[in-house]
Amino acid sequence: MNVGASAPGEPVAIRWEGDDGPAGRLLLLDQTLLPGRAEWIACGDVAAVVEAIRSLRVRGAPAIGIAGAYGMAVAAGEALAEDLEGVALRDHLAARAEALATARPTAVNLRWAVERCTAALAGLAAGATARDCRTRLLAVAREIHDEDRRLCAAIGRHGAAILPAGDVLTHCNTGCLATGGAGTALAVITSAWDLGRRFTVFADETRPLLQGARLTAWELVQRGIPVTVLVDAAAGHLLSTGRIGACIVGADRIAANGDTANKIGTYSLALLAAAHGVPFYVAAPSSTFDLSLADGSGIPIEERSAAEVLAPLGVRAAPEGAGAYNPAFDVTPARLIRGIVTERGVITPVTRQAVAAMLGAGSSSP
Ligand code: MRU
Repeated sequence: MNVGASAPGEPVAIRWEGDDGPAGRLLLLDQTLLPGRAEWIACGDVAAVVEAIRSLRVRGAPAIGIAGAYGMAVAAGEALAEDLEGVALRDHLAARAEALATARPTAVNLRWAVERCTAALAGLAAGATARDCRTRLLAVAREIHDEDRRLCAAIGRHGAAILPAGDVLTHCNTGCLATGGAGTALAVITSAWDLGRRFTVFADETRPLLQGARLTAWELVQRGIPVTVLVDAAAGHLLSTGRIGACIVGADRIAANGDTANKIGTYSLALLAAAHGVPFYVAAPSSTFDLSLADGSGIPIEERSAAEVLAPLGVRAAPEGAGAYNPAFDVTPARLIRGIVTERGVITPVTRQAVAAMLGAGSSSP
């Protein structure tokens, strides 16, 4: 199945087709259909981008940030079509920015990327036209996209250097589909493989939406890297066998002390890894850190629909009348994390001071 590639073997999930003219359009690979079908959706308006983010057609913290940024170029396209100017143009873009930034609450990359777009608009002259805004916003979205590609490669390099021997256990999907490049945790795994290391990747299936089984396994099978899917509840037993050298996962938001929000089940996995003395690593770009939050208690946790739990993949599993508890993320305390792999290097031990030392100053360039 060929879905396009940014580098050999790297599937892509987000594309802009054409230029900044009215015909330019945002295309998203509909990840809800994978691995069965690879279909692209064209986002004709911002409502379609918001819907795609909310329903996880595009997902993963860096990827929704990139989609949000392109969404701002789509918003300027709407303004172009409606001939908006002056205050009407500014109000339109501000309203669309808020709709995009709040499409999902936990991954900070989304608001970060949209705010980078609105900051770029502030730099335009007072009489800027919708066309000027479109040109500027598309340039910023492309910049964020390209930058993420470089950050993923740097995360892969730094992480591969510290990945312990043994098989690897991961959770959710943190690869090409979730980012603008090779991924975060999955980039560490594929970089280590490319350096000649050999292991099996154990992928938690990741209930309830099965990002591990559907997406991580799909990416690794395409790469020819051995992958074994397990139900999330099998992780403790697997860790007790002693064959796992490290657990490595991605992140949706990391507080200033290193507390990390990631896909539901990550916290349980970190506790199990600690109980078995297996190092637990997080991999994320600097755009995933929220230094305005002292610790993880302030991270908003998205609650999703009961249907995802009661009728997984549309097949009714629980009786009518049963309720569901469906938090999409949880917070792993910093004390359970051996290191956080960023594009700038590995934060270890994970302390407030070490986070500040790695991220406190400078740009996010690798
Ligand atoms: O709900 P999702 O599929 O968007 O959740 C994704 C995750 O939790 C990933 O681990 C995280 O965004 C990091 S992606 C590089």
